[in-house]
Amino acid sequence: MEDAFLKLALGLLKASEDHERYRGEECINLIASEGLKSPAVAEMLDKSHDLESRYAEGENDLKGHAKARHYQGQKYMTKIEDYSTDLMKSLFDCNWADVRLVSGTHANLATFKGISLATKNNRMVVLPLSAGAHITHDYSGLAGRVLGLETINHAYNIDELNIAIEKSATIIEATRPGIVTFGGSVFQFPHPVKELAQIAKDNGAYVAYDAAHVLGLIAGGEFQSPLKEGADFITASTHKTFPGPQGGVILANCEDERTKKAIKKVQHAVFPLSASNTHLGRLPALGLAALEMKVYGKELAKQTIQNAQVAAKCLSENGVNVLGKKNGFTKSHQIVVDVREYGGGQKLAFSLEDANLILNKNLLPYDNQHNRGDPSGLRIGFQDVTRRGFKPKDVECICSLMLDVIKGKRTSAEVKKDVIKLRQDFNEIKYCFQSVGEAKEYLQKHV
Ligand SMILES: Cc1ncc(COP(=O)(O)O)c(C=O)c1O
Repeated sequence: MEDAFLKLALGLLKASEDHERYRGEECINLIASEGLKSPAVAEMLDKSHDLESRYAEGENDLKGHAKARHYQGQKYMTKIEDYSTDLMKSLFDCNWADVRLVSGTHANLATFKGISLATKNNRMVVLPLSAGAHITHDYSGLAGRVLGLETINHAYNIDELNIAIEKSATIIEATRPGIVTFGGSVFQFPHPVKELAQIAKDNGAYVAYDAAHVLGLIAGGEFQSPLKEGADFITASTHKTFPGPQGGVILANCEDERTKKAIKKVQHAVFPLSASNTHLGRLPALGLAALEMKVYGKELAKQTIQNAQVAAKCLSENGVNVLGKKNGFTKSHQIVVDVREYGGGQKLAFSLEDANLILNKNLLPYDNQHNRGDPSGLRIGFQDVTRRGFKPKDVECICSLMLDVIKGKRTSAEVKKDVIKLRQDFNEIKYCFQSVGEAKEYLQKHV
């Protein structure tokens, strides 16, 4: 075999090992869009080798269960799909779910496509990108470039870091879109679903709430309840504040002809329009993550939000401009800071990375939407460190290390040593089962 090929394979194995040590053991992860699986969920993934090789193409019924499957050998796979669907339905108190989505992007694709087929209307009202919309919502991403939707921005109130209710109501009434979305990637405060959902519906739209970031907080009952507030669909990733395997989910209530019509179209948009292999190996782990969130979700969500609030207060008291001060900075897992006076988001994200503090630069609502390369802000998430057991005083230690870098008090290389030391004090994952065996024991005791 050629030497060059072997060297590539060796390089790959080494890079993989290096990555696991670097990000898994030596860094403090503050990226707001990443979750942390429990040992039990990781073990469940590991125990699903055969399933990971299988296919289960086919249609689902209006309970979200497998209806027709086009391959043989499905007798347990169908049960696995149906059980994980029902666990998600039960956790989120709704009567329909689709767990076949391989990501949050896929969930948005199928939902936006399905609704636009149901309404025959290709207009969609979304958050502006600079105010936190995900690229899948935008004309420059999935919504516009792939699905051909015409996107119209919600009005946004920069002072409140939220959708401007009255102006958005006027926009919805004037443009009569087929879809009105809520939710986003920068998401500190619950969106006004209660206030705007009925107006959207009265004007012929369906309401889609993108809970990719906040699904775990919703599961824990510590954020808004979008379906109860009037959303028709929740779309989400299953691997951010919801600490499951990487994947996606769509949730809804099938309750009348209107919702039935859209759900059928969304299912059609999943299969056959956008999925063949649905990555079945993740489904047992997804169901197990749902169980963990049922048992530990409230405590985890509460602590995550408290940790984010403590960090915001600490950074703010030390002179950093944390957005949303008048409303207590945040009611979610994330905070956003304006670091223009310290060199901007791009420069600081790299300096913090050099100190093993991993987060991302972010556009702020008043930034030029096209300046994604060097925005004013940083977005900082606390779901990972919370799951590792960080409490408010530990979060203050993280802030103090961040402040050293942001204010240039010490070099990144000096701070990095302390980051590695701090990270190594938190080697257990909390609010979860430590093994599949422990989850089974719990179930046997409580069934
Ligand atoms: C609001 C929002 N929606 C959708 C997505 C896409 O999810 P995924 O990365 O699972 O495709 C993201 C990703 O971060 C997101 O922030």
